[in-house]
Amino acid sequence: MMSSKIAIMGAMPEEIEPIINKLENLKETAYAANKYYEGTYHGKEVVVAYSKIGKVFATLTATILIEKFGCDKLLFSGVAGAISDELKIGDLIIADGLCQHDLDITAFGHAHGYVPEGEVCVPSDEELREVAKKVAESKGLTLKEGIIATGDQFVADTQRKEWISKTFNADALEMEGAAVAVVCSALNVPFFILRAISDSADMDAGFDFDAFLESSAKISADFILSMVDAIEYK
Ligand code: ADE
Repeated sequence: MMSSKIAIMGAMPEEIEPIINKLENLKETAYAANKYYEGTYHGKEVVVAYSKIGKVFATLTATILIEKFGCDKLLFSGVAGAISDELKIGDLIIADGLCQHDLDITAFGHAHGYVPEGEVCVPSDEELREVAKKVAESKGLTLKEGIIATGDQFVADTQRKEWISKTFNADALEMEGAAVAVVCSALNVPFFILRAISDSADMDAGFDFDAFLESSAKISADFILSMVDAIEYK
């Protein structure tokens, strides 16, 4: 049996606190203007960090979790704004693919979200998605699967949300997932992005986000810990 080190990443303190609180053998390391928490969860080695908001910080943190801490899987936990009407506050969505809604070189005839040698939509690891479906089944939870759109923008505008919906066929939006996807895909590290809905990216989004960040982040974090339990080493 090969051992494994699982990275668990969030963007904000609220997204990783419920996870850090459950770790054993906790060791904190300061690195690159951030803190990384190594520990074990039911005997499995994990490294946990929050990146700070946005694609640039997410890229930095995901890269460090893999290159410096040697993580060979990455699970992201956090909150998102809903695009799909099916998604209500507190509901869970897993990304089957992630795109950057604010990446735009359409002036050169390219599709939104595309740059040469990249891909509009980066697929997440299928095995980890299967693990998530089993966990959801065992907990009696509904898990939506769909495209998550990422951008350096808190969306609180129905028109922008509609545009992202029709351009990328996305079901939810946030500010880090696609950056993590690009890093993990380039470094061949299986990754998984889970989000619990905190708002609907509409005119009430700022208010809802503040009201539901903590409770939705906890729903996502609890699910991620069950995934750590369910991941089998080969
Ligand atoms: N994360 C949670 N809600 C969001 C929103 N409305 N826009 C961007 N990121 C989010």
